[in-house]
Amino acid sequence: MRHRVRTNDLKLGMFLHSLEGSWLEHPFWRSRFLLENQDQLEQIRSSGIAWAVIDDRKGKGPPESAPVAASDQPGDVPGKRTAVRRDPPPVIPRRSNIMPAPRPELRRLSGRERASAVRKASTVIKHSRTAVMGLFEDARLGNSVKSSKMAPLVDRIADSVDIDPTIILNMARLKTKDEYTYLHSVAVSALMINLARKLNVPEDQIHDIGMAGLLHDVGKTAIPDDILLKPGKLDDKEWTTVRNHPERGHQILSASEGVCDIALEVCLRHHEKMDGTGYPGRLSADNLSLVTRMSSVCDVYDALTSQRSYNKPLSASHALAKMQSWSGHFDQLVLRDFVDSLGILPAGTLVRMDEDELAVVIGESPSDYSAPIVRCFHSLHTDKAIRPKVIDTGRKRARSVLAVEDPEDFGFVDWTTMSRNLLAM
Ligand SMILES: [Fe+2]
Ligand SMILES: [Fe+2]
Repeated sequence: MRHRVRTNDLKLGMFLHSLEGSWLEHPFWRSRFLLENQDQLEQIRSSGIAWAVIDDRKGKGPPESAPVAASDQPGDVPGKRTAVRRDPPPVIPRRSNIMPAPRPELRRLSGRERASAVRKASTVIKHSRTAVMGLFEDARLGNSVKSSKMAPLVDRIADSVDIDPTIILNMARLKTKDEYTYLHSVAVSALMINLARKLNVPEDQIHDIGMAGLLHDVGKTAIPDDILLKPGKLDDKEWTTVRNHPERGHQILSASEGVCDIALEVCLRHHEKMDGTGYPGRLSADNLSLVTRMSSVCDVYDALTSQRSYNKPLSASHALAKMQSWSGHFDQLVLRDFVDSLGILPAGTLVRMDEDELAVVIGESPSDYSAPIVRCFHSLHTDKAIRPKVIDTGRKRARSVLAVEDPEDFGFVDWTTMSRNLLAM
């Protein structure tokens, strides 16, 4: 179980799960480890960070007097734009049985406001495409890149995400094979900003995170097009060239002026995996920062849901289900927050519908990706299987999903096989 404790109450033998506040201010590169010596405790206390989360399954529990929740949240600076703050959960929550909700500060747009937001997002995408193409061209020609020129763009992407993330994220998803390299950068930037908001990252880091998304694949400019756009399987030599892009990108950004640390780190580390099988460093979880973990989730999600030269795009819900099934690749807690930040139910999720029926999510509505398409298969009223029927909850006056359910609560012991069969119908 996880407990939130004051850093002053940390003791040797406790397992540090995370520290609050800006991770740039954290005294350690690793985010999770056993507290084994006095130096570590002193470094934490002298960092000025007030709160930490410990995991008592991996080390000592909290002192009895230590509070598990607090109201004196650090970091609320008067006058700053407010991102909603969330206390770190004291325990890993079970999959919540409530529907993923939009961020509370987002209100429903009127028709007119929505039309204006769509126009704005479309202009942002158009300008981003041109700007990223220009930046990549500079890199291809061996010039240093001018990240400062991209700063206003990052702010406009962040503004669009803050008005309604679904608009810009939907637009950035629709890209042709040729546009992939450029619009992928814009999409990853928007996804990272949206996830950062969900994780309550302090406002002053949101911009750097958006910039990191825009610049993360700049090293791909060193990959010849015949490899980058190759429809078939890559041979070993080609694969080595592709795997070189994080280091090449890091060299380009290091030689350029004013690139923030977060962008440098994400560029180098976005293909690392939690189990240490990623590249280029084969770093494992202990050495992967939160921003690296976020970038890896956003990068893969956009790649899976986009049209690429060698793959058909997956629907958002199928991409999320696939990502959840890959053990060792992602930080599962970050992935869970990512799923919530999009408000999309992964394919295979068990849900309770109105009219007392159980259904499985099989996709998302083409008109609104946050509205699932489900297949109803069981009546709770009669407790019997019913003839399967498909419902697109995004259609006008369609039936609605009431809650996400846990298959075990209904005795579906082999839910994996059962949901796979329901999906394949
Ligand atoms: Fe990459
Ligand atoms: Fe990428």
